[in-house]
Amino acid sequence: CAIVKGGREVIANVVASQIKIHEEFGGVIPEIAAREHLEAINVVIDETFKQAGVTGKDVTAFASTVGPGLVGCLLVGMNAAKTLALAYDKPFIGVNHLNAHLAANFIDTNLEPPFIALLVSGGHTQIIKVSSFSEMEIIGETIDDAVGEAYDKVARLIGLPYPGGPKLDKLAQIGNSHTFKLPEAKVGGYDFSFSGLKSAVLNYINGCKMKRQEINEADIAASFQKAVIDVLVEHAVHAAKEYRIDKFAIAGGVASKQTLREAMEKACKERGIQFYHPSPIFCTDNAAMIGSAAYYEYLQGRRDGWD
Ligand code: KG4
Ligand code: ZN
Repeated sequence: CAIVKGGREVIANVVASQIKIHEEFGGVIPEIAAREHLEAINVVIDETFKQAGVTGKDVTAFASTVGPGLVGCLLVGMNAAKTLALAYDKPFIGVNHLNAHLAANFIDTNLEPPFIALLVSGGHTQIIKVSSFSEMEIIGETIDDAVGEAYDKVARLIGLPYPGGPKLDKLAQIGNSHTFKLPEAKVGGYDFSFSGLKSAVLNYINGCKMKRQEINEADIAASFQKAVIDVLVEHAVHAAKEYRIDKFAIAGGVASKQTLREAMEKACKERGIQFYHPSPIFCTDNAAMIGSAAYYEYLQGRRDGWD
């Protein structure tokens, strides 16, 4: 839960993480996730108001994610926000989760459209042309796995526990990215394909096991990471050039990765493109980005009903 002022200023932001609970199962179990949401939501809302030093009366509008996402979890958040809106007689605004990831870039910055964005999360990998606060167009996306998903799967192949993405990222830092060559993750236009990369890693590991060769997990992680970052950077800067847009932003859980941020920043700098990124806490799922997205929806006149 978060309280956001003017779309850019975060007054309070409280995150309840379920990672510890899902670790045991090696991934998110939707039903457990929804129940945990229900247990945590009132505590998190109370804590947020306490930290912000405001009450529901001071709030202009209430918002929540309405999709895409796990439906059981969305229902909990949406009903909590609608209940507050009803109780305080304020509007409710339903926010698209992906738009909200992009809006994380408005927090503490002066970024304004038009810009090109790269959204890399557990479920999505998209290059988006953001023309205004209400107009955006997906110009490229993955045809199979999302980047976050590919990270988690490769992490599992090399024996790292859930959530593997951040752990693989860490391991890659001590590995040699030139150990072996992986297939390119690009397909036509600005689209991506990461399942071939994942299979190549799997084949390599199986081959090593058959030959009783030792595998170096850090080198695999580094090579995989390089292949992923190379294609993300290439597509992203190419899109900015082709559409003649000189502002570029990254978003989504994987955008908290420092290696990706540095590679993107360098590529943008070389081409005179201004680079934006949210701070890591606003990259992975959080409510402040929902508040920011809702603010711009509110300005456009958006109001949602109770259904
Ligand atoms: O945006 P997000 O928090 O949730 C979704 O909406 O999907 O993204 C979660 C994804 C997970 O796949 C996680 O492994 C990945 O982001 N992730 C990372 C890092 N931090 C989070 N992947 C690589 N390196 C990281 N540092
Ligand atoms: Zn997300």
